[in-house]
Amino acid sequence: MEDEISSFFESSPPQKNMEEILENLNEFIKLNSSSQGGRRIVCVTSGGTTVPLEQRCVRYIDNFSSGNRGAASTENFVKAGYAVIFLYRRGTCQPYCRSLPDDPFLECFEFPDKTNIQGSLLKLPFSTIYEYLQMLRLIAEALKDVGPCSMFYLAAAVSDFYVPWKSMTEHKIESGSGPLDIRLAQVPKMLSVLRSNWAPKAFCISFKLETDSKILMEKATKALRKYKVHAVVANELSTRKEEVVVVSSSGNVVVRRECDKPESFVEDNLIRLIVDRHSTYIKESHN
Ligand code: PMT
Repeated sequence: MEDEISSFFESSPPQKNMEEILENLNEFIKLNSSSQGGRRIVCVTSGGTTVPLEQRCVRYIDNFSSGNRGAASTENFVKAGYAVIFLYRRGTCQPYCRSLPDDPFLECFEFPDKTNIQGSLLKLPFSTIYEYLQMLRLIAEALKDVGPCSMFYLAAAVSDFYVPWKSMTEHKIESGSGPLDIRLAQVPKMLSVLRSNWAPKAFCISFKLETDSKILMEKATKALRKYKVHAVVANELSTRKEEVVVVSSSGNVVVRRECDKPESFVEDNLIRLIVDRHSTYIKESHN
C-alpha cells in the first residue's frame, strides 16, 4: 500500500502555487494555535474530486457532491470556536452563502458580524484528485504539531478510480475512431496513511456514502475497523439531508435534522456530537 501511495504522488502533476499555499497554511495554523491558549483546528474537506481524461483537460469524470455538507459543517465548527481549513472543490457551496454560487464577487463583501471570522477560516480550492490528495497531505503534515487538538472531517466525495498522469493522452481524445475504451487504475485509499503517518494524533472522522441502504451500515462498520478512524458518518444519498448515523466503537448514533424547525440542518446536531467526542478525545490524550 505504501508503495502504491508513493507512486501515486510521484506520478502526480506538481501542485501549482505550492509555496504560497504552504505559507498561508503555516501562518493560519500559527495564528490559531497560539490564540486563546490554542484554538482547536479542523480540516473540513468538501465537494467531489474530478479525474481528468486528458492532460490538457477537456473531459473529466466527476464525483457527486454539492458541498453543502462541508459548508454547513464549517459554519457549525466556527460557531463552536474552531479554526477551519476548508479544502473545497471549486464552484461548490461555500460557508455563509450556501444558497449562492461560488463567486469571487462575494469575496468583496465583509462578513456581517464582527467576529474574527476571516482569521478562523482558511479556504483552499481543488478540482482534481491530484490536487485534493496533495493538499490533504500538506495540511496533515502542517497540522502534526497541533496533535489531538486537530481534526480531519473528510466529507469530500473522493474518486476511487483515475487515469494515471503518465498514461493519459496530452491532447483532446479524438471522437472519430469509434467507442472509447479507458482503463482506470484504483486510487489508493489515503485514510490509513493519514491515520498512521501523516497525522497520527489528530481526531479523524470519515464518511461513508451509499445509494443502497441495505449495505450502508455494514460498509461503515468495516471502514471504522479497517482505517482506525475515530468515527464514520454513514449516509444514504437520498436521505443525507435528513439523517446520518455516526458509527464508532461506542456504538451507533442516529442524528436527524429537527423537522419542526425549518431553519435547522442535520449538521447542527452532527457537529455538536462530533465536538463533544473531540473534547473527550483531547481529555483522554492528556491523561
Ligand atoms: O456535498 P453534499 O451534496 O452535501 O453531500 C454530502 C456527501 C454525501 C458527499 C457526504 O456526506 C459524504 O458522504 N462524503 C463522502 C463520500 C465518499 O467519498 O464516500 P466513499 O464511500 O467513496 O469514501 C469513504 C471515505 O474514504 C471518505 O471519507 C473519503 O474521504 C475516503 N477516501 C475515498 C477514496 C480514496 N481514494 N481515498 C479515501 O481516503
